[in-house]
Order: sequence, then structure tokens, then C-alpha cells
Amino acid sequence: MNLGIDDLPVRDELRGKSPYGAPQLDVPVRLNTNENPYPLPEPLVERIAERVREAARDLNRYPDRDAVELRTRLAEYLTDTSGYEVGLANVWAANGSNEVIQQLLQTFGGPGRSAIGFEPSYSMHGLIARGTGTGWISGPRHDDFTIDVAAARKAIAEHRPDVVFVTTPNNPTGTAVPAETVLALYEAAQAAKPSMVIVDEAYIEFSHGDSLLPLLEDRPNLVVSRTMSKAFGAAGLRLGYLAAHPAVVDAVQLVRLPYHLSAVTQATALAALEHTGTLLKYVEQLKGERDRLVGELLALGYEVTASDANFVQFGRFDDAHDVWRKILDRGVLVRDNGVPGWLRVTAGTPEENDAFLDAVREIKKEQGS
Ligand SMILES: Cc1ncc(COP(=O)(O)O)c(C=O)c1O
Repeated sequence: MNLGIDDLPVRDELRGKSPYGAPQLDVPVRLNTNENPYPLPEPLVERIAERVREAARDLNRYPDRDAVELRTRLAEYLTDTSGYEVGLANVWAANGSNEVIQQLLQTFGGPGRSAIGFEPSYSMHGLIARGTGTGWISGPRHDDFTIDVAAARKAIAEHRPDVVFVTTPNNPTGTAVPAETVLALYEAAQAAKPSMVIVDEAYIEFSHGDSLLPLLEDRPNLVVSRTMSKAFGAAGLRLGYLAAHPAVVDAVQLVRLPYHLSAVTQATALAALEHTGTLLKYVEQLKGERDRLVGELLALGYEVTASDANFVQFGRFDDAHDVWRKILDRGVLVRDNGVPGWLRVTAGTPEENDAFLDAVREIKKEQGS
């Protein structure tokens, strides 16, 4: 029997929709999902094996449901790198920051409630909203992709969303959001509802500026979400976390599945956190490569959006998808996020970035401009 999704009794709001689907193509140079291109260093791989071997001896038991050791180490990392003190009670962890966001929307969104994001931004915010039955409101940005504060405040006052997403640096544009903007949106959200403001700092380690963690002080409705997928070079680990008032961490317990973080995940993340210094050295290298990509793309005559992340949005193209295909034909996979006229390239190793730059140089020459 030939059945499709829509032949099943799926929820109405899922009918006709597509899943998240960044292409996973087998090409020589993959610069499309903002991963860190450097494999984990061998001493860390050894340490992971050791920690996982230890954890394996207890796999007959459920893991630490509260992930106490891991959350303590994550709190130390946040405190050390931001100067703003957070402790175990402020931190929660899950399988990727996508799961953190899902738990937040299960807690503060849901049927009859809504969330707003300022688009273009990380598409999963809207998709997770849909998956949790939360209404989605697409808020505006300026043409240069910065948040239009006046329009954003107006949208918050009008729609009174339960959750406000602010992504800094923003994906796919790379745009950093100043603290004053987050404060303005937080105030608007409190006046309108009050609602939760989620600051998604997935790429903050690559930023020229500082983390917005200090804004958590006296703001119980603010959450900062983070991930080990980017700066830590551990996308395959699936470990995301948040920092917030302890009451937020308590609230999320109402929706998290028991034992959601496997003992193997906890052991692996703990090993990675022992090697924070080494892992963050790659961040400096990648920031240099990001800046090189910006410089070379500008020199080639492309427009580039100022980037505080490990990727660069470049354009403008009459037909961005056609250019995406031409770059792919040259063995380099970049991302077409559906932002009209723009593509996004992740900063890879110097060799990968050279391959990308050669491809766009060739395409530029072919077009005779
Ligand atoms: C802005 C943003 N937030 C969150 C995520 C999800 O990261 P994770 O791998 O932690 O689920 C991504 C991944 O690309 C992202 O771009």
C-alpha cells in the first residue's frame, strides 16, 4: 500500500509541512551546517574512551537524572568565560540546545500560546514551536538584518507572545544583538504579558563581543541557551544547556523526560569539559578564518553581512539557489537558507575555505563580473 504522511491521522498543523533538512551530501568540502571542522584532539578522544568505559560498567542502572556533575562543570565554564557567576541551580542540560529549546517551549509555550522570532533566524525555533503546538509569529528585521527594535516592540505589544526568541549572533546572518536591544525586548515582553525571553547564544564563543549572561541578574524571565556543538567541536555529542534563574530550571523539570541525558552522553561531555582550553584554541583560529572569508568575499565584490559567528552570509544573487548549485558542482557544499539573494558559508579549515573561495572566484569570472 502506497501511503503518505497526509493519509495518516496526523495533527492538522503538521499536514503538508517539511521536516528540518539541511542536505547531508557526500562532497569533499562541507561548509553548510556551521560545524567546527577540526576533529577532537587525540588526548581528548582517549579521555572520552576512558570516561565512557567507566560509565559502561554502570549501564545496567539509569543515569544521574539531574546530571549534577555535568551541570556543575558547565556552570564553572560559564562563570570562567563570562565573569558572571552561575551555579548548579542555574544550569540545565539536554540533548543539544534544540532539546533545551523544546523543553522551554513545552514549559512556557504550547497550545493556545505563542512565540515570536525575528526572521531570518534559526529555523528550528519556529519548527519546535510547531512541534509543541505553540503558535509562531515572524517578527521583522531591518534590511541590514539587525533587529528593528521599534517594530519588534510593536509586534510584542500587539501579539503578546508567551516566548520571545533572540539569537545572538544570529543564524543565518551572523548578526550580533546588542545588550540594549535585548533589554528593550525584555521590557516590552514583561509589559505585554509577562513572557519568557530566550537568548540563543549557540555561536557566542565566536563573537567579537561578550556573552549576555550578566543580563540574567534580577531577570527571572530571561534564559540564555548554549551548545557544545559549535565552539567545542562536538556536534555529534548532542549536548546543549541553559542558564537562568533556578525557578526556570525547576519549571523545566515538569516536562523533561526522566533520564533524558544518557550516562554515555554525560561521560563524554565531562571529558570534553576537561579539555576546554584546547578546544577553545580552535575558536581563535576559526575567528581568523571567518574574518579572512569576509575580507576575500568583499574583495571579490560580494556583499557580506557583518559576522560575529563561525559563518558568513554573502550575496547578493538574483538566483541564490543557482549559485548554490554552481558552488556544489565545484565540490563545496554551502547553505541556501531560503533568504532571497543570500547564501551562507561556514568557516572551515584554511584548505576548505580556499576551495570555497576558488569556487566563487571561478563563478564570478564565468559571469564576467
Ligand atoms: C542558533 C542556533 N541555535 C541552536 C542550534 C542547535 O544546536 P544543537 O546542536 O545544540 O542542537 C543551532 C544549530 O545550528 C543554531 O544555529
